Amino acid sequence: MTKRVITYGTYDILHKGHINLLKRAKALGDELVVMLSTDEFNQDVKGKDNYYTYEDRKLVLEALKYVDEVHPEENWEQKATDIEKYDIDVFVMGDTWEGKFDFLKNQCEVIYLPRTENVSTTDIKRRLGLKED
Ligand code: CTP
Repeated sequence: MTKRVITYGTYDILHKGHINLLKRAKALGDELVVMLSTDEFNQDVKGKDNYYTYEDRKLVLEALKYVDEVHPEENWEQKATDIEKYDIDVFVMGDTWEGKFDFLKNQCEVIYLPRTENVSTTDIKRRLGLKED
């Protein structure tokens, strides 16, 4: 049976922390589904201004060998539905979310992966002068 993995994120200005996460997530199964935050969700709910649009971020992710599918993340509540809809076996998040999604363990495996140190999109934007401190 095909083992399907899901993960969530914004993936704006791709960096090595993103690649490390996607590589390890993909290695946990056969197919990796990335739920990509829409521009509206980022702006209105997360309070983040993206550099690249959803369509551009999707284009970049779909070109990666670790990524099999990209779908929109539009709200915080859709995770349980996504697991059913996309036939998911493993749910993966970075460990800044440690424990926060344990309630999904009745639906699938839940794994938190350590973040890569010293790199983030926020930091890149700040250093490039794209973000106010
Ligand atoms: N990630 C990671 N290591 C990093 C940065 C991100 O493992 N150094 C992971 C996150 O845990 C998440 C995924 O990459 O699972 C997408 O993260 P995202 O929030 O899009 O990237 P950040 O660089 O953290 O962006 P921001 O600074 O805007 O929060």
